[in-house]
Amino acid sequence: MASAEREKVVLAYSGGLDTSVMVKWLQIEKDLDVIAICGNVGQDAEDLEWVKQKAYDMGAIYADAVDLRESYANNVLTKAIAANGMYENTYPLLSALSRPMIVQYLVNCAHQYGAHYIAHGCTGKGNDQVRFESCIHALDPELKILAPVREWDLLTREQEMEWAEEHGVPVPTTAAKPYSIDDNLWGRAIECGVLENPWNEPPVDIWTMTTSPENAPDQPEEVILGFEQGVPVSLNGERMSLLDLVIRMNEICGAHGYGRIDMIEDRVVGIKSHECYECPASLAILAMHHALETMCLDRDTLQHKHMVDQRWAALVYDGLWFSQLKDALDAFCTSTQEFVTGEVRAKLYKGSLTVTGRKSAYSLYDYGLATYSDGDTFDRTASKGFIELHSLPSKTWSSKQGPAAERASGSRKHDLSA
Ligand code: ARG
Repeated sequence: MASAEREKVVLAYSGGLDTSVMVKWLQIEKDLDVIAICGNVGQDAEDLEWVKQKAYDMGAIYADAVDLRESYANNVLTKAIAANGMYENTYPLLSALSRPMIVQYLVNCAHQYGAHYIAHGCTGKGNDQVRFESCIHALDPELKILAPVREWDLLTREQEMEWAEEHGVPVPTTAAKPYSIDDNLWGRAIECGVLENPWNEPPVDIWTMTTSPENAPDQPEEVILGFEQGVPVSLNGERMSLLDLVIRMNEICGAHGYGRIDMIEDRVVGIKSHECYECPASLAILAMHHALETMCLDRDTLQHKHMVDQRWAALVYDGLWFSQLKDALDAFCTSTQEFVTGEVRAKLYKGSLTVTGRKSAYSLYDYGLATYSDGDTFDRTASKGFIELHSLPSKTWSSKQGPAAERASGSRKHDLSA
């Protein structure tokens, strides 16, 4: 029950054991009124109404399960697509993308309800604590942060369950889940358990969004995505919202066993970890988006953007979504997307996706320049002079500082006295 003089805390609540225990713990140990907020970013959760009721049952003064999916797709995933957001060239950042959006909502709640605290359920070893807290600090430096699981890190799960039982928090009757899972529209992360030995092949039971490639259909399937200014707007000719498109792509690509990732990843806190992901829609959309960029952006822009994309991904991974550089890189990416409009076709087959076609009204691909057949418009007489000047520095270097061929073969003596 709310008491007039008690301070309030907004809790990032998932309905799982840790954050459920927290609803009680924050009241008892920290003497705070709890506002429990569960953000729906497309995770495969228990019934969210039930999750909300559970928070009330444990004494939360307010609980809500808010559907953030539309906003996640339109305000976050669009930026990730524009930046081909991929950490260490492999991981499409699903957890890193959802946190800033959730934090923004929590901070707004804190302001709305006059709470001075925000609490989260991240452990002390992961990236998510860094993201939660960095985003909170950026959005409102006055807010105080509580990270109970970090304090509990010394406690075993058994002790946590005991505390829960003593205080009337419903505890799961099933054995501890063998993996740590985080999922949303952009994919699903699976860690811990037997995966902690990186030599272990991921057991088949970790995968839920993707069919095993061995069991995928024997017939390939084609998908065509339409993009407007870098944003996917249609699937197989049918216009739809990005949210619906991502949901559909997860189903289609997952059924063909596409989207599994098994990697060693470098966490912000210095730990290497073995991570498995399934990301059918995100990997497909990013690959197809980039395929269209190769048609619509010139060589210099593509090369430069590649560096920007990598920097963008590192910043977002590191929890710096709300930062000056991230904003500036977004502006660059947005400017490059002006003509990234067109269609890309890809074929799915037993765990693979291959781009098989691309077209755009703004394509920089020029048939006349490219063709070796009739209709050639390229002036090859210009090539001779171009190559002359292009290779002039190398030619000069070789003649003044020793023939390149000798260096290449290793036979050149380095006679610095000469
Ligand atoms: N390693 C990924 C990341 O840092 C996934 C984290 C998943 N979080 C979790 N609680 N299992 O972005």
